Amino acid sequence: MTELKVLITNHEVPKVAIDLLGEKCTLIINEEKPYANREQILAKCPGVDAIFWASKERLDAEVLDKAGPQMKVVGCMSAGLDNVDVETLKARGIKLSNTPVVLNDAVADVAVLLALGAARRITEGRRAIEQGTWRYGVQWQLGRDISGSTVGIVGLGGIGQAIVTKLTKFGVSKFLYSGHKEKEEGKLLNAKFVTFDELIKESDFVIIACPLTTETKGLFNATVFDKMKNTSILINIARGGIVVQNDLVEALQQKKIFAAGLDVMTPEPLPRDSPLLKLDNVVLLPHIGSATIGTRAAMAQLTAQNILMGLGGAPMFTPVY
Ligand code: DGY
Repeated sequence: MTELKVLITNHEVPKVAIDLLGEKCTLIINEEKPYANREQILAKCPGVDAIFWASKERLDAEVLDKAGPQMKVVGCMSAGLDNVDVETLKARGIKLSNTPVVLNDAVADVAVLLALGAARRITEGRRAIEQGTWRYGVQWQLGRDISGSTVGIVGLGGIGQAIVTKLTKFGVSKFLYSGHKEKEEGKLLNAKFVTFDELIKESDFVIIACPLTTETKGLFNATVFDKMKNTSILINIARGGIVVQNDLVEALQQKKIFAAGLDVMTPEPLPRDSPLLKLDNVVLLPHIGSATIGTRAAMAQLTAQNILMGLGGAPMFTPVY
């Protein structure tokens, strides 16, 4: 390869990726702390051949224009692509990859963590300890069982399938899923394909595991919360935008549903005065689904490999199109 330049938009990208790319390319790294903003990324784009995108900033025509026509390869270090203008990249013939599969287990673990945490009222329990209101009580702090429950997965992709596999060990009695079409994997996992409406009405746990798209934006609104069981628990490990957050807050306040467990919300970071933080029946995590040492290294390595394949004219391992 001739001297190829790769921009890495975040200095915290695991070393495995820096080493892989550094062997073959000249690296330009956004060293700004804690992480580079849009202007700082744009300033480093001109003249690069590929971009390693590890940023929540929007990846759009402006970035491509700044980089120039020689820039033909983008590797995103994420599974979600809701911050990427995929159609524009495709129209301009840019090779684009993301990092599905390698994060399935880590994200599914967080779904299980939130499902159990919300069912067992861990926010309220922790507050009781802190506030000195912990008491003995036969009827105190009772949660809900996941064993024997019906779990509905909205979007049976890789992460949804990993959630079903993990929850099978918890004695769930029925798995439902909704999506565009029935899947072979659903049959193998003993999960029943149902309409979205059936899923929200019948499930004790509703787990959102679908991408944020124009179709799923705001899918969970007041009408949906009204249809859910008032004993049900909502888990979101996908994207905050799939839920109308004000409607969720109201549903939780009015006990239209039992509880929620959220790894994602709107906006991120969540403002410290958000009403979500005042609620006892919600468990919150700061979008850490894929945040394990091993998973982030695997995501970084896959992104670097994809970029090298793309620059070398070979098919990427996990292309977006
Ligand atoms: C992803 O990769 O999309 C996860 O949400 C981590 O950001």
